[in-house]
Order: sequence, then structure tokens, then C-alpha cells
Amino acid sequence: MPISGIYGPDDFANRPQGQPQSQVTATPRATPARTGPPLPTPSLAWTPEIARATAPLYERVKHVIPPIEWPLLAPTIHAINELKRARGAVILAHNYQSPEIFHCVADIGGDSLQLAVEASKVKAGIIVQCGVHFMAETSKLLNPDKTVLIPDMRAGCSLAASITGADVRLLRERFPGVPVVAYVNTSAEVKAEVDICCTSSNAVQVVESLGARSVIFLPDRYLATYVASQTDVKIIAWKGACEVHERFTGQELRAFREADPSVQIIAHPECPPDVLAEADFTGSTAHMISWVREKRPRRLVMITECSMADNVRAELPDVEMLRPCNLCPHMKRITLANILESLLTLREEVTVDPALAVRARRSVERMINLKN
Ligand code: 13P
Ligand code: SF4
Repeated sequence: MPISGIYGPDDFANRPQGQPQSQVTATPRATPARTGPPLPTPSLAWTPEIARATAPLYERVKHVIPPIEWPLLAPTIHAINELKRARGAVILAHNYQSPEIFHCVADIGGDSLQLAVEASKVKAGIIVQCGVHFMAETSKLLNPDKTVLIPDMRAGCSLAASITGADVRLLRERFPGVPVVAYVNTSAEVKAEVDICCTSSNAVQVVESLGARSVIFLPDRYLATYVASQTDVKIIAWKGACEVHERFTGQELRAFREADPSVQIIAHPECPPDVLAEADFTGSTAHMISWVREKRPRRLVMITECSMADNVRAELPDVEMLRPCNLCPHMKRITLANILESLLTLREEVTVDPALAVRARRSVERMINLKN
């Protein structure tokens, strides 16, 4: 059914003024004293030894990184992997990270749900989050004793920045008794105000798990519209949008089909409805990847952040990717150079106020504990 209402900052006369809390800012702090064995000094020279040591990694990305570029990347990749071992750190990378990060330095890759689940199981003392700030906050919530680092504190998200905890309280006043579901693409401050979180992998399941006739679903208006199309629960939405997915148009997809009627098109549910109407399949980044592994289309358009097409192509070179390239500027703030810097300096550390964390964690854990 269509969404039954969509609200935004302008709909609340009593809304507090000011920037959303989720506009993240850098919080530099002194490099902590390091304990343990001395760290290897990173050498960033391209040597026969580095070529040999990184050859198996190049095998993973040879279909998406030209050989001429490898000598520029391999020394930093090697240094990160050495330092990661010396630090006892684990690198988590979202599916939107570039192939040299996703396939060559990450220990665990996945969508937002997979990364949250894996973060809760990490035994190592340090987690380096190659993704955006809300993902690092989620890791910290789920594994609070670990040091969670993000290589660039400015890696935000237009969805997380669209809503504050105060906005959630205003929505609750307007719709008393209606449960609130927050997409994980929100700040810890927002997660602390809601009943449960969801990701694009489980949004419909989470909404239906509440057993309510109406649910407030925030902050992504397009994911809310998609969820509403899949359930009888009445959905009240917020006016947020992903700045990457909202740029795709149905017209763009029709042009791909006209050029090649046999092309397969799959899209992320953060896209507008006219885009999803043209797609052969809609799903989270993990569900899109599973779909490609299973169907092995000859020609494919992935309507999502375009590094994911590279990551899939690295694994499945027979699938020809047509790439309407929308990059997420926040995801792209993470680079090999700043991952190395982060491991060397143990910065920037992501922290969450402990009292807030107790409430925010409850919303994320409630989602993770839902039975499949
Ligand atoms: P998923 O990986 O959960 O599908 O989320 C997409 C996204 O935009 C994360 O920022
Ligand atoms: Fe946020 Fe969109 Fe970037 Fe994901 S792709 S981090 S939803 S802006």
C-alpha cells in the first residue's frame, strides 16, 4: 500500500533549531601509548619482495585493477596487512569500498547487517571500520570494549544527517503509541530513541515483527516506500534520502533496456519508486550480490554505488557490468593511505556516550536477535 504520510523538519513548528547531531566532526586525540612488540616500519617502495608477497592479492583484483596500477597500490596494501597483524586489528569493509580495500586489506566484507553481526563477534582489540560513521558507531555499540577506528571521521551519510533524536521525539508526540523503526543509517542518538533498527536486508521482516497496524519508519523515504509496497502495515515515513541512490532515474534504466533488451537490472531499495519499477530485482547490497552469484547474468546493471560492481566483477569476471557510476563521496573518503595512517596512529577513534549507548544498543540488538 502507499505510505500513509511523510514528515520532515518543516512539519514541526516546535522543532529545535540547529544542525542535526549526526553531522559528524573530527575529534582528534593524542596517539595513545602503544604496548607490545615494535611495529614494522612501513616501506612503501615497490620491490621484488613486495611483488612476490602481494601476488596472491593481485589475483583477486586482476579483472578490475590494471597491472600498471598495481605497483602503486601494492606497497601500501602490504604495509596495512603487516601493521594489522602487529596491532592485532580487524578490518571491516562495506560492499561499497573500492576493490583494493574490499578484496586486499579487509578481513570481513559485507552489507550493513553482516558488518553489524560480525562486529559483535570480533575478538581482536581494534576494529578499523572501512565504511561510514554510523557503521563505526554500530560496531562500537555492539562491541563496546574494542577500540573502533574510522580512517576519516568526515565519512558521514546523507540519511544519518537528515534526522535527530529530537525529531524522533516529535514524531512520537504526533503519533502516540506508534512504534518507531530506524534504518541503521542513523546516528546512535537516533537509535537510542527508537524501538528497533533495521537494514535494507531485513526491513520488511522488522516492520512486521512489531505486530502493529502502523509503524513510523525513518529516515529513508524511498526505503519506506519500498517497505510499504511489500506489507499491509501502514508506514509513516521521514523525508530523508540517500544522495547516491536518489540520483538514479527510471528513464536511465529504460535507456539501458532499449540499448540491450536482454540486459538484467538490479536495484537497491534506497532508489526512488520509478527506478525500482524498472528493475528485475530489488535488494540490499548482500542480496544483490547473492542474486548475481546465483543467476550469473551475461550483462548486468547494478543500480547502487558503483564500487560494488567492481567488487562483484573481481569475483565474477564473466558478468559484463554496465556501470552508471554514482559514487558515495562519504564511502570514498576511506583510502589505503588513511587506513595505513589510522593503524599507525590509532586515530580517529569512534566513541559513544555510555548512557546513550545502552539505549541505542538495545535497538540494534533487538534487530539482530530477530529469528530469520
Ligand atoms: P546495505 O549494504 O545494508 O544494503 O546498505 C546500503 C548503504 O547505502 C549503506 O550505506
Ligand atoms: Fe549514506 Fe547513501 Fe552513502 Fe550509503 S550510499 S553511506 S546511504 S549516502
